[in-house]
Amino acid sequence: MLSTSEIMQVALDLVGFREIPGDSAVQVEGDGIRRALFGIDVGPAELLLARELGLDAAIAHHPNPFVQGYADVLDRHIDQMVAAGVPRGEAEEAVRPLKEALTLRYHAGNYGQTVSAARLLGLPYVNIHNPLDELGRRIMERAVQEAVSAAGPGAMVGHVIEGLMTLPEFQAAPTRPLVVLGDPGNPAGRVVVAHGAGTNGRAPVALAYFRHGVGTLVYIHLDYPELLKIRAEAPEGANLVVAGHIAADLVGINPFVQALEERGLEIVRASGL
Ligand SMILES: [Fe+2]
Ligand SMILES: [Fe+2]
Repeated sequence: MLSTSEIMQVALDLVGFREIPGDSAVQVEGDGIRRALFGIDVGPAELLLARELGLDAAIAHHPNPFVQGYADVLDRHIDQMVAAGVPRGEAEEAVRPLKEALTLRYHAGNYGQTVSAARLLGLPYVNIHNPLDELGRRIMERAVQEAVSAAGPGAMVGHVIEGLMTLPEFQAAPTRPLVVLGDPGNPAGRVVVAHGAGTNGRAPVALAYFRHGVGTLVYIHLDYPELLKIRAEAPEGANLVVAGHIAADLVGINPFVQALEERGLEIVRASGL
């Protein structure tokens, strides 16, 4: 039996986080949890499903409702860009429009819908986003870098895809990683997996990576209008791989589910798991 805060702690421990990031929260506390529904997106429908199935709690990946500190998690793009050689000022500039856009979007959202349903049902409810995305980022980064170094100096974008495809989540997914800019036969160059920062960095973050020598960038998802902006401005030879949203989320979620099961929690997989 676990409490909601113990469930959260298991996730934090997997990545060595000391604090709960702003896009994750124990929304409705509870303890004595033996069986929990786990979904990538959990709304009132999934909460009712959990109740209908006689479960003790619901765990979500995506933040829903709006969590107060979501915009701060976007700053992790800055650290990732700086680590890849983008000057800090330029990295901050690239993240600014993203933070502004998402602050407005969440400002407009109905933050009470899901959490009020959980409260009314008396159902403990937790959402864990960034710790699991950070775990997934590390796993994807390792898989990709191993494939690229095994290919040696002739490493191509296709080897980046091969690296992703070594992970069972991508093998099992109905989606396949897409090369949306460049070509699988292009030299891979320096490869970065940009993930675990709230959401993808849209065009400004991608272009900042390319300006500073990244040959292949991996996003997990990207909207088409942003891709068009990237195509219009990216330097010759730049490559962008879109790995696949749910498959990539599962790369971080599955080890967490395993860790919960090892602690005796029964997980009922729903909504994308
Ligand atoms: Fe995610
Ligand atoms: Fe996601």
